[in-house]
Amino acid sequence: MTVIIDGKAIAKDIRLELKEEINQLKQEGVTPGLAVILVGEDQASQTYVRNKDKACAEVGIHSEIYRYPAELTEAELLSKVDELNKDDNIHGILVQLPLPSHISEDKVIDAISPLKDVDGFHPVNVGKMSIGKDAYYSCTPYGIIKMLEKENISLEGKHVVVVGRSNIVGKPAALLSLKESATVTVCHSKTKDLSSFTRQADVVIAAVGKAKFLKADDFKPGAIVIDVGMNRDEEGKLCGDVDFESAKEVAGRITPVPGGVGPMTITMLLFNTVKSAKLHAAKAVF
Ligand code: GUN
Repeated sequence: MTVIIDGKAIAKDIRLELKEEINQLKQEGVTPGLAVILVGEDQASQTYVRNKDKACAEVGIHSEIYRYPAELTEAELLSKVDELNKDDNIHGILVQLPLPSHISEDKVIDAISPLKDVDGFHPVNVGKMSIGKDAYYSCTPYGIIKMLEKENISLEGKHVVVVGRSNIVGKPAALLSLKESATVTVCHSKTKDLSSFTRQADVVIAAVGKAKFLKADDFKPGAIVIDVGMNRDEEGKLCGDVDFESAKEVAGRITPVPGGVGPMTITMLLFNTVKSAKLHAAKAVF
């Protein structure tokens, strides 16, 4: 029997734990604060930012949303980031990507204090993660690791095949799996005979951004299938990178889309913001 991993339920449990932690922090005079910057009118980004704001309110995190027109200059954005870096009420700063093409994403990410980089995108946090140290980890791959932990699935000695090599998901998913003592293979768009790799995997993490790209034949019977995809199928319905209907006949466990990895991403943003508030309150750094 295939187990469908309920990301929504796992995320809800973690958010309840965070809510209790936040109430405790508030009694000690600390309210975790997150600043979100949105530049331009991108529809998907507007929805993501609204969902982040709502999730903060639900657990009791103070959130400030800064919305700017697409004409905002790079200098103006860097100046806002600098102001937030110095703001003691703000423990996490998130600049929603993508940014308009006249603004360098690298420059903006570099300008965020690594101690407030709750997205885990700053090179200091990426570097620390790559040498197995504590840091802010990118929310989607960190959410996958937490989800597996909550499902009592250990990655130790397992062969994890990551399909996709993006800086936000694929690469950090590989590094975090390695930190959990998995044997890791990273495949990408130039990989030859992809399914010869995925068929060897105990765990497949699909992060390619192509609707229903991986099918039942691409998996070993009993494999754990983690689907990071967020695509629309031919009928405009939300679907993952995995053809769920066929894959669930082969997989041992599988995450659905929606309701799998998605709810974990914002949860880990809340988690990282609370972690930052605690570290700032203790005047500690990692
Ligand atoms: N755009 C799409 N996903 C993300 C994310 O996780 N963080 C930010 N800052 N922008 C995004």
